[in-house]
Amino acid sequence: MEERYTAAEIRRYEAIYGRDFISPGGEASARTFLAHATLDAGSNVLDVGCGVGGSAFYMARTFGCRVDGIDLAPEAIRIAQARAAELGLDGLLTFIQGDFLEVATPRPAYDLVYSRDTFLHIPDKARLFAKVRDCLAPNGMLLFTDYVRGAAPPSEEFATYVAAHGYALETLSGYRDILAEAGLEVTRADDLTAAFIAVHREELDRLTHAELPIADVDYLTARWRRKISRAERGEQSWGLFMARKQAGT
Ligand SMILES: C[S@@+](CC[C@H](N)C(=O)[O-])C[C@H]1O[C@@H](n2cnc3c(N)ncnc32)[C@H](O)[C@@H]1O
Repeated sequence: MEERYTAAEIRRYEAIYGRDFISPGGEASARTFLAHATLDAGSNVLDVGCGVGGSAFYMARTFGCRVDGIDLAPEAIRIAQARAAELGLDGLLTFIQGDFLEVATPRPAYDLVYSRDTFLHIPDKARLFAKVRDCLAPNGMLLFTDYVRGAAPPSEEFATYVAAHGYALETLSGYRDILAEAGLEVTRADDLTAAFIAVHREELDRLTHAELPIADVDYLTARWRRKISRAERGEQSWGLFMARKQAGT
């Protein structure tokens, strides 16, 4: 399979999402979502699909917690490690390259498993959430966002987009069921379609000032417009999920 999240792709994504992020809304989204978590200097966090480290940097800086980040893309991990050292945060942060389903996590148990827009890349959701559950301390929390299927039937354009990217998309209620089957108590499953549209419109506006070759600006503009249209049609959506590992599971 073609390598994803290469240096060139990361550069292009950071130009639109903001430095250190390759997911919608950049640091502002991380701040919004992490306001739902309870973290302090004693917390241990696992960031699944940590990308170039933006959320991990934010958590370590804001709460003083320890974060272990795992990502499949070697270039993302290389950048995350270099920037953590530059920021003087490498004492709190560990970045590991590998497939989350395959790698051993540095700690036996985490207070929070956090993931942003990564699970769409992992088709075997039963195995994914079994591993998440095994990584959590009793009463530990999972917090993640992901692209999800909306209620509207998929157009040919949407189906082609999903197939071309190899995405494994769930619905909001599909995720609820899978999480419950994995022994995770769902405490939040929010439809973020309106926020998805607003964030992508803001990013589109910002693109006019981005320092990118015109071909990249044109490419991203077309992609972002299509994402906004699919969300407006109710085909593509964005979900925020939180779930607790019940004691004894
Ligand atoms: C959309 S990016 C989001 C990155 C980061 N969470 C952020 O918000 O900037 C998705 C990330 O998931 C990673 N990824 C995909 N499949 C993975 C897997 N099986 N294990 C670990 N990381 C994975 C990709 O390499 C990529 O960095």
